[in-house]
Amino acid sequence: MSKRYTITAALPYTNGPIHIGHLAGVYVPADIYSRYLRLTGNDVAFICGSDEHGVPITIKAKKEGVTPQDIVDKYHAIIKTSFEDFGISFDNYSRTSAKIHHDTASEFFKTLYDKNEFVEEVSEQLYDAEANQFLADRFVIGTCPKCGYEEAYGDQCENCGTSHNATDLINPKSAITGNTPTLKETKHWFLPLNKHEEFLRKWILKGHKKDWKPNVYGQVKSWIDDGLRPRAVTRDLDWGIPVPVEGGEGKVLYVWFDAPIGYISATKEWAERVGRKWEDYWKDEDTKLVHFIGKDNIVFHCIIFPSMLKAEGSYILPENVPANEFLNLEGNKLSTSKNWAVWLPEYLEDFPNQQDVLRYALTANAPETKDNDFTWKDFQARNNNELVAIFGNFINRVAVLTNKYYNGEIPQPAGFKAIDEETLAAVKAYPAVISSSIERYRFREGSQELMNLARLGNKYLADEEPWKTIKTDEERTKTVMFVALQIASALAVLSEPFLPFTSDKLKSILNHSELDSELTWEDISTKDVLLPAGHSIQSGKPELLFSKIEDDTIQKQLDKLEASKKANEAANKKVEPQKEEITFDDFTKLDLRVGTILEAEKMPKTKKLLVLKVDTGIDTRTIVSGIAESFKPEDVIGKRVTVLVNLAPRKLRGVESQGMILMTEDENGNLVFVNPNIEGVANGLKIS
Ligand code: MF3
Ligand code: ZN
Repeated sequence: MSKRYTITAALPYTNGPIHIGHLAGVYVPADIYSRYLRLTGNDVAFICGSDEHGVPITIKAKKEGVTPQDIVDKYHAIIKTSFEDFGISFDNYSRTSAKIHHDTASEFFKTLYDKNEFVEEVSEQLYDAEANQFLADRFVIGTCPKCGYEEAYGDQCENCGTSHNATDLINPKSAITGNTPTLKETKHWFLPLNKHEEFLRKWILKGHKKDWKPNVYGQVKSWIDDGLRPRAVTRDLDWGIPVPVEGGEGKVLYVWFDAPIGYISATKEWAERVGRKWEDYWKDEDTKLVHFIGKDNIVFHCIIFPSMLKAEGSYILPENVPANEFLNLEGNKLSTSKNWAVWLPEYLEDFPNQQDVLRYALTANAPETKDNDFTWKDFQARNNNELVAIFGNFINRVAVLTNKYYNGEIPQPAGFKAIDEETLAAVKAYPAVISSSIERYRFREGSQELMNLARLGNKYLADEEPWKTIKTDEERTKTVMFVALQIASALAVLSEPFLPFTSDKLKSILNHSELDSELTWEDISTKDVLLPAGHSIQSGKPELLFSKIEDDTIQKQLDKLEASKKANEAANKKVEPQKEEITFDDFTKLDLRVGTILEAEKMPKTKKLLVLKVDTGIDTRTIVSGIAESFKPEDVIGKRVTVLVNLAPRKLRGVESQGMILMTEDENGNLVFVNPNIEGVANGLKIS
């Protein structure tokens, strides 16, 4: 049954190009889903655009000595081109600097303001006196109050995904000057999330959201269970959408307030262009709204934006938010600043016209339920062993033999054997199988089913050997080739969501455009004949769909990454500048002791934290240390360490940490203990 869908893909920040992590996590799955829905006859608005506000863009502009507008213009163009190049079939790719977006977001804010949905409050916010600026969002870095990660931003911790207020950070530092911020009073508007708790609980926890991905549901549930607090939706910044109400002078909307409204403005822009009613896509209960995002965006799409929509009152809420986990690259976290990434423009330079290979490799190995690793070896294997050896090989044999035996004309089959009937029946079952995967957001499973259909074709040819029967039984050969051509035709249609470029090529090899009507997804399971006898395929040598990728091509990519690692290490060798001078008295306040770790265990549900029992000579105490990514508990038991024993205790995840263990890093960036390393030194001895 045909339905209306509004499909959104997270608006990318325009502070750099797009890399494979973005593609794998958000845009390829969203594109597969949208293409599939269109192919099955639904009414789809697939919406995206550039997220052009926010602090990262201002920081980048400052660094490069240009204006934020220069930055967003540059990357908007680059990103938009990458999406087009990779066949991401947005109905509209807009941008949040567009007038229609400024108007839509302002209006949205005013509506909530007029409905008294905000709490207006003067509060103390972090301020950098030297930079003469309030420190919001990425302008401030500090320790996450939830997981202890030391480089959390003012609005969000990238380690555990929690979103918080900047004043919640432990030990905050200005990202501009490195100074410890002071507090200064300022007025802001807060969205009282606590007021929406009941609605959220009902909607998410008691509603039908159990069919959401467990990672999404779990994060949202834990967020709600932790208690919701008012969140400021305005900022003291000068880059963004001006706060459109009295007293808002010199302030802008928080980027996470305006950006999701970008989905709405981009829909409006599109609807105007194509002559539709945008409200149908946002205000009609029968429309399904689906947000494709990465896991760091979950709280914004499952808690904050729905609360905004609910407060406004006239909008629908998302039906599902199939967030993906993260993709790593060759064992390390993708990082823009460390240039540890495969950038899409560079990929296309090195692998021209091979968009589908990347789309396939990323889908077959997508981080759907856990973080996953992209390796160039896997990429090569997916191409050589699957796309070339199975899919490409099958199509090539079918096209070559059809031309050779029948001048490109589909032969009349001469009666079917059981194997033929079975094969044709198996083909008919594929649309439902692949649909079921796609509709459950299991795109990797779907891509493997598609490959299984190509496998079926390959095996059929290998078993029936038309190249042998042509010498002994011409009639049998006709049947076999007829059946093989039906499989090729099914592949042309069913591959479209996953491999759009290949699907197009294959359709033109098979001359699909000359059929009476274009084959639909449904036709594959309902029609007995897809390519009728007498229909002609393209003559001549067929274009190869895929070609083998050699080892040296892969080695070049690995070398490129190695070079970027080296460059990064060299850049990091810079010794940090000396800190502010302190007095001898300041120094003597530090009570450092030699100690031994007696016990260690992982803090449940965290990645970074170990709970240690340490003999300090004075006592045995508990210290929570953020070293779990570098050490297993059993590795640290018995280690001699340096302990700061008179640090004020603080609670991490409910466990009181009574001190700190001194650490440093080796040349590869691995954590190492600052170890007294002297034979015969007793625990408790002072270090001075
Ligand atoms: N720019 C954000 C990011 O890259 C995503 C914004 S999604 C939207 O993480 F909902 F705000 F649009
Ligand atoms: Zn955290």
